[in-house]
Amino acid sequence: MISVLFFQIYNVIASPNVLILIADDLGWHDIGLHNDLFQTPNIDALIKESIKLDNYYVNPICTPTRSVLLSGRYQIHTGLQHGVILEGQRIGFPLSDILLPEALRDCGYRNHLVGKWHLGFYREEMLPENRGFETHFGYLGGAEGHYSRSQCTGHWGHEYNPPNGLVCGMDFRDSGSNRNITNQYSSDLYTDRIEEIVSNHNTNEPLFLYAGLQNVHFPLEAPTEYLEYYSWIQDHDRRIFAAMTMALDHSIGRIVNSFKQRGIWDNTIVYFTTDNGGSSLYGGNNFPLRGIKATLWEGGIKGIGSIKIPGISPDTRNQMVHVSDIMPTMLNLTNCQVDKKDERKFDGNDQSEMLKFGGQSPTDQFLINIDPFNTRPSKSDKRKWNSDFDVTVQAGLRWGEWKILTGDPGGPSGWIFPPELQSKKLSFAPKMSQYEDPKFIKSQWKRRVALFNIAQDPLETADLSDKRPDIVEIMLDKLSAYNKTAVPPQPQVWDWAANPDFHNGFWQPWILDP
Ligand SMILES: *[C@@H]1O[C@H](CO)[C@@H](O)[C@H](O)[C@H]1NC(C)=O
Ligand SMILES: *[C@@H]1O[C@H](CO)[C@@H](O)[C@H](O)[C@H]1NC(C)=O
Ligand SMILES: *[C@@H]1O[C@H](CO)[C@@H](O)[C@H](O)[C@H]1NC(C)=O
Repeated sequence: MISVLFFQIYNVIASPNVLILIADDLGWHDIGLHNDLFQTPNIDALIKESIKLDNYYVNPICTPTRSVLLSGRYQIHTGLQHGVILEGQRIGFPLSDILLPEALRDCGYRNHLVGKWHLGFYREEMLPENRGFETHFGYLGGAEGHYSRSQCTGHWGHEYNPPNGLVCGMDFRDSGSNRNITNQYSSDLYTDRIEEIVSNHNTNEPLFLYAGLQNVHFPLEAPTEYLEYYSWIQDHDRRIFAAMTMALDHSIGRIVNSFKQRGIWDNTIVYFTTDNGGSSLYGGNNFPLRGIKATLWEGGIKGIGSIKIPGISPDTRNQMVHVSDIMPTMLNLTNCQVDKKDERKFDGNDQSEMLKFGGQSPTDQFLINIDPFNTRPSKSDKRKWNSDFDVTVQAGLRWGEWKILTGDPGGPSGWIFPPELQSKKLSFAPKMSQYEDPKFIKSQWKRRVALFNIAQDPLETADLSDKRPDIVEIMLDKLSAYNKTAVPPQPQVWDWAANPDFHNGFWQPWILDP
């Protein structure tokens, strides 16, 4: 009895705090560590104090990455493999699956979400307060004005005819109630709340703070103080975007300081990540990687990421880590057990041993996606394969050094020149003809199957599918096996009852029956 009691008390005190910082749409070329012309000293310092993940992958868009991060389950197993959840869609993370905040709550953690949710809200049960968080200060959808907190959406079908085809509303909540705050910039507002949570936190209990930071997602809006700093960038979108990265960086500096001032920094696991690559349609950049956010090219999925583990010296890991590994890894690092039936559902692996001590990664392959709603009718690639996997469907898989893409990987499918370089006198003259106009949102890629050796060709310059049909067949069979475990995507319908006009101008849950 005494030893059990002692163990429990010891356990509570020994549990490290968990801080998850997600930067929204932060591209590979958008931090100082990867781009000399950008100033992100706080992000750079955090990464240098952590285990830097140099072979780390996320999903190409927001909802899939966040759902996989918090559940350890691939999006093909939760019906979230097509697109992001848009306001008014009856789509959400399945209530039958466990999320990291629920597991940590059961292990005694005090959990708070500040910022973006984006795992669905059509029913009350899907709200973060009902999925393990004590409080949520922020928004439910994927994007909104950084001052207005409002978001519009379309696609309502023929029966309804809203002005401009769009329905708009405010998306902002504070612990279960709608709030209307429009006079503060997102990163200031969220950082103020985070400082408040940290300073009020009882340090005898473990804290889980999940910061879904709104920067640097579009719309392109930034406070004047940051804009002035980058006035030398001629490209309009890139200039504002650069200022937004500076706002993000200041926010992260303040968050780190709040943990230090509370005396809990050294006992906090800090996981910093982007949710997907940068969108060059809105100022982001992934140079020198190919493609952008929402494509299956490296620019869409190769993530900036780091994990600081108490007691472990800073280092860099080149071992493969996928965002699906985060849930099992966090459970180990926090010494928090979940039910065996939930554990069996994890697609990712516990990386805690590798992160702490190096050695082999337990992850040697990961599914990028299989999206049956995204097919390529193009007849330009007539090659036949033995595998039964339908190669007109957009899919991607990484296996060791190999990466296969099927269907249309998405566009722009080329390499995007960093616009800020045009504003500097360069000692070298990059050939602009090599670069694609980001406004080419249509994919220029016409084949149905592509194979790259990412270890030797990280920029995806040479499609080896004709040279290595043996590898193609193995990987198509693997994709086919994954496909057999998939559930269908949740239906993509818009529900008129979600219209904020019926809810005092707010996006909020609209289906009340259980
Ligand atoms: C964490 O991982 C280590 C090493 O693999 C293992 O021995 C330990 O049992 C794991 N702990 C938990 C709580 O899963
Ligand atoms: C995945 O499996 C379903 C059900 O068997 C099948 O209809 C579909 O064509 C498969 N998708 C691919 C991309 O092969
Ligand atoms: C929020 O407040 C502003 C200013 O008072 C007002 O114009 C707007 O209609 C309010 N929005 C909602 C959704 O209540």
